Order: sequence, then structure tokens, then C-alpha cells
Amino acid sequence: MSYIQYTVLVLVSLQYIVHSQAQLYVGFYSGTCSAAELIVKEEVAKAYSQDRGLAAGLIRLHFHDCFVRGCDASVLIDSTPSNKAEKDSPANNPSLRGFNIIDNAKARLEALCPHVVSCADIIAFAARDSFEITGGQGYEVPGGRRDGKISRIANTKALPPATANLTQLTQMFSSHGLTQEEMVTLSGAHTIGRAHCTSFASRLFNFSQSFNQDPNFNALYASKLKQECPNGNSNANSVVPMNPNSPTISDTGYYVDVLNKRGLFTSDQSLLTSRNTANQVHRNAMDPVLWKSKFAKAMVKMGGIRVLTGHHGEIRLNCRVVNN
Ligand code: HEM
Ligand SMILES: *[C@@H]1O[C@H](CO)[C@@H](O)[C@H](O)[C@H]1NC(C)=O
Ligand SMILES: *[C@@H]1O[C@H](CO)[C@@H](O)[C@H](O)[C@H]1NC(C)=O
Repeated sequence: MSYIQYTVLVLVSLQYIVHSQAQLYVGFYSGTCSAAELIVKEEVAKAYSQDRGLAAGLIRLHFHDCFVRGCDASVLIDSTPSNKAEKDSPANNPSLRGFNIIDNAKARLEALCPHVVSCADIIAFAARDSFEITGGQGYEVPGGRRDGKISRIANTKALPPATANLTQLTQMFSSHGLTQEEMVTLSGAHTIGRAHCTSFASRLFNFSQSFNQDPNFNALYASKLKQECPNGNSNANSVVPMNPNSPTISDTGYYVDVLNKRGLFTSDQSLLTSRNTANQVHRNAMDPVLWKSKFAKAMVKMGGIRVLTGHHGEIRLNCRVVNN
């Protein structure tokens, strides 16, 4: 075999390996639905102009999709009489939002290029557009995810609870292939959006035998929150902004909050409990450009968790229902 023949053989088999693993790649729809990303971006912008909080909802939607059975849009599937789906878990219901935006984008895409663009990719693009529109930064999102056919409430145990400590958070992210630093970086998403009082009331009332309220909570902030969330969890619908100074802007206000004991959840405040993570909080707080670029990279990595590609899964026609 000549050197050239050998080289060709190696290249051909390399290409075969790459193809059979069917990786995600940027521009996945350029030949089959070239307006796909633009249409998602338009729908995100339209929704955002009506309710700026929806950008936060869409970023969280991607996270909750990817951490449960991988980024396969399982979070979008409605419950049926015989199956309680992820979206009805207390981790998602009633707090998760943005479903209609995905539906609107999907409806336009089905009209334009039927049966081509997956719901899982729509979520990933919408999360990127949401970060960008809130003053974060744009980034390229590899496409090619396919939609899963299974959504079970029990699988939402993979989502970290607000009460998690650093060890638990690090372990849960690591089980999805994400480093502790990426966990710290992604937690910065809490710089936008809202939380229901029920998500942190345990820090305000009857915290422990020794403390009525969490001693790691800024006392002034905690007393203000007690006014907004009286009697712990009397009103399940009450919400507060997570980063009150700039709740709709993807800045590094979250990290400044954490440094000032104004992180809303135990999980947020736990980032100060090791020297490494505390240093990262400090660096992110001081350097928004650095944080935004780290966040973009970590989102792309999160967007690759256990994806279905190639002939696995399906392209759902309606994001809420598995195809027949
Ligand atoms: C580190 C572990 C995490 C925990 C324990 C956690 C927990 C929570 C909780 C309890 C809420 C409030 C839900 C409510 O009461 O309405 C929330 C909101 C939110 N989370 Fe997380 N989260 C974590 C990581 C992430 C990550 C990695 C992202 C995205 C990259 C993210 C994005 C968001 C966003 C944007 C909101 C606001 C949602 C809205 O306004 O609709 N979170 N999170
Ligand atoms: C974190 O929480 C787990 C479970 O509640 C507990 O076993 C562990 O001791 C905690 N770790 C730290 C460092 O507090
Ligand atoms: C706190 O404890 C008191 C006394 O045990 C109880 O009456 C109250 O309902 C508790 N509050 C919450 C929010 O659990």
C-alpha cells in the first residue's frame, strides 16, 4: 500500500468514526432549515419584549432538560393519564416557564421545514439567545440533538435542590461530566430571574435548633425577604427577584450578592465554603467579561450532556407529545 493510499484510508476511516458517533456541530441546519436559529431568536425576542423574565425561564429550561436524561427535550413532554412527566415534578411545577415560546418557535419551524428541527435544539438555541438578549454574550451552539421519547417525574431527582451544600453540588455536576468550576460558572445564571418564597423559606424561619434563621444570610436582606415572604410559605405563588439590583441583566451581580451573604439559596451561599470556589466567586464578581465567556463555554458543554444523535430518538412534531 502506497503512502497516499494509506493516508486516504486513514482519513476515510476517521471520517467514518466521526460520522458514526454523530457529534453535534455548529450550523447543523444550514442545509436543511437555514432560518432555524433566526426563527428561534425572533421568538425569544418577541417573548422578551412582553416579559423580560422569560429569558431566565428559558435558560433554566435548558439546564433542567440537560440534567434529566440528557438534553433531549424530555422536560417539554406533557403528563398523560398513565405517566407523570418531568414537568410535573415539584422541581419544575409551578416554577419552570417558557414552554409557550418553544411551542411558538416549533410551530413556525414545522410550517417552514417540517420534521427537521428538534425540540431539544430549539431549547439550546433559545437559552443562548436569552443569555445574549439579557446582556450576556452570544456564542455558537452546536446542533443535531434529537428528541427523547421518555419523561418520568422520578428522573428529576437528578436536579440539585436549593438546600444542597458544596459537596453535593460538586458531586451532582460531576455526575453529568461538569467540573466544580463549571458548576460555579453556571450558578451565575441566578443573576437573572426569580424564585418562589417556598424555595428559600427554610432559611428564614425555624432554620435549626440553634438559629431561627440561616446565620449565613445577611440579616438586613433576610428581614426584607421575611416581609416579602411572610410566615414562610403561606403563599405558594409569591416570588422575589434573585439579584434584586439587576434582575433582568446577565451581569455578575450574582457573585457580588454571594460575597455579601445575599445569595438566595443555600446552594448559592455554599460557593463560599471552599477556598477554590470562593476565589472563583471573587474573580467572577470582578471580571464580567471573563465570567460571560466561561458561562458561554460551560453552556455549550452542558448542552452536550447525553444527547441523542444520528438515528437515535426522533424529531418530535409537537414538543409536548411523543410522536406515534
Ligand atoms: C447549582 C445548582 C442549582 C440549584 C440548586 C438551582 C436552584 C434553583 C431554584 C430553587 C430556583 C428558583 C425556582 C423558583 O422558585 O421559582 C432557580 C431559578 C433559576 N435557575 Fe437555578 N439552580 C441551580 C443551577 C442553575 C443552573 C446551572 C442554571 C442555568 C445555567 C440555572 C438557572 C436558573 C434561572 C435562570 C433561574 C430563574 C428562573 C426564572 O426566573 O424563571 N440554575 N434555580
Ligand atoms: C453535605 O450534605 C450531606 C447530605 O445532607 C451531608 O452528609 C454532608 O455532611 C454535608 N457536607 C458538608 C461539608 O456540610
Ligand atoms: C416554626 O415553628 C413554630 C413553632 O414550632 C411554628 O408554629 C411555625 O409554624 C413554624 N414556621 C414554619 C415556617 O415552619
